[in-house]
Amino acid sequence: CTVRHYDFRVVLKNTTKLCSSKSIVTINGKFPGPTLFAREDDNVNVRVTNHVQYNITIHWHGVRQLRTGWADGPAYITQCPIQPGQSYLYNFTLTGQRGTLLYHAHISWLRATLHGAIVILPKKGVPYPFPKPDKEKIIVLGEWWKADVEAVVNQATQTGLPPNISDSHAVNGHTGAVPGCPSPGYTLHVESGKTYLIRLVNAAVNDELFFRIAGHNVTVVEVDASYTKPFTTDTIFVGPGQTTNALLTADKNVGKYLIAVSPFMDTVVAVDNVTAIAFLRYKGTVAFSPPFLTNTPAINATPVTTTFMDNLRSLNSKNYPANVPLTVDHSLLFSIGVGINPCATCTNGSRAVAAINNVSFVMPTTAVLQAHYYGISGVFTDDFPATPPILFNYTGNNTGINLQTNNGTRLYRVAFNSTVQVVLQGTTIIAPESHPIHLHGFNFFVVGKGLGNFDPKNDTKKFNLVDPVERNTISVPTSGWAAIRFRADNPGVWFLHCHLEVHTTWGLKMAFLVDNGKGPNESLPPPPSDLPQC
Ligand code: C2O
Repeated sequence: CTVRHYDFRVVLKNTTKLCSSKSIVTINGKFPGPTLFAREDDNVNVRVTNHVQYNITIHWHGVRQLRTGWADGPAYITQCPIQPGQSYLYNFTLTGQRGTLLYHAHISWLRATLHGAIVILPKKGVPYPFPKPDKEKIIVLGEWWKADVEAVVNQATQTGLPPNISDSHAVNGHTGAVPGCPSPGYTLHVESGKTYLIRLVNAAVNDELFFRIAGHNVTVVEVDASYTKPFTTDTIFVGPGQTTNALLTADKNVGKYLIAVSPFMDTVVAVDNVTAIAFLRYKGTVAFSPPFLTNTPAINATPVTTTFMDNLRSLNSKNYPANVPLTVDHSLLFSIGVGINPCATCTNGSRAVAAINNVSFVMPTTAVLQAHYYGISGVFTDDFPATPPILFNYTGNNTGINLQTNNGTRLYRVAFNSTVQVVLQGTTIIAPESHPIHLHGFNFFVVGKGLGNFDPKNDTKKFNLVDPVERNTISVPTSGWAAIRFRADNPGVWFLHCHLEVHTTWGLKMAFLVDNGKGPNESLPPPPSDLPQC
């Protein structure tokens, strides 16, 4: 097997955007970070050395980490942080995976500037299951704050109020323009008649995004590194942590076309960040030619998101079958909510909290996986509730019900190789919003979704168990639900959380514990000797 070696130095880099400079945490001085290239089944060795004053971890988002949970990366879940001056070798194999994924820092909000694409090509000699593109282009979407992101988080934590919205979106590091401060924007160069595979990554911190190219449709062929049945669309909907591969045919002769990136937020419309600027530009286009424009979907264009998600289906071919679990060992219902708890020292006497089944997850000070492996008690409990404490009308009027959350580092334990179904139920508590929920260590199948309350009797009958989309992050519709299924074939501790960083910070997270303690195939191998200690 091929081993790919990477040297990731975490360093500060002075960067100017929106006419304002600051030092940002980067990999090798790059924003976005360098792309990690590999092939399916390759072994990847990334030496991460911390040259900054912050604690660091890196997560390889969507990489299954089969029996390599020590390399997954979420701070205090699978590892203690890499402290200033230390290094850690992330060693994992891309078993049975190809497509586009991303890596990002997984501690506090450092992923705002520390992120990059992972491109996994098929094994040598294995073609794509779609027409071969002439070229491939990587587009990483992000967010930019003029302030230091750590300062943004600290201010929010102290006041108990939501943190400031970013000042701009970014396309491959290029922000939008503000008065007195023009931005050339990112340019995607194309040649007439050629086809391109766009590898689109949403590395934004708090925004689900729409992506559209004026005058051009694209054909989606893959999401979250799983092949899909091709479908053509004028708009891609991509949540933070999600990736989309799409074919673009450059079917015009010359010209410049706006690439529009805009946020989706269906009920909260107070967004004031600047839209990033990007253009598709044909070879031979004369300088200063005005661009063809396109409008962006409305910020609350829920139907656009619904249509996009409904069109996503697993390819489910002979070579790439969708192995949907047909039976369920653990049937779970998770209510997902954002609420308010009393806080004497906060600005309004209260602070925003977020919870799953009314449990707001508390980060321990020792890594949960180490505590589990070495049997250290007092770090976590395995009593995460399988259902919400009270069953009620989640999407009706909830005034007067008890929204009080309790705090805890509570995990849900499942046996190795058992099958799990989780119905993620969005609620209308305080700030109804669509939540991009991400599961570490597994891909899951999205067997159903809908609006309102999940109805176990009738909705279960309508599940798609044939070709549901397979992914690692799912946008749970506002005041609606999504049902996911996976087989727990990966021993370890696996984080599940909202990929809107603001909600993770508020506690919208939990973890699964998968282990039988029955030897090497059903349990985790010992940790690498350089695993950071707390
Ligand atoms: Cu991309 Cu736990 O995150």
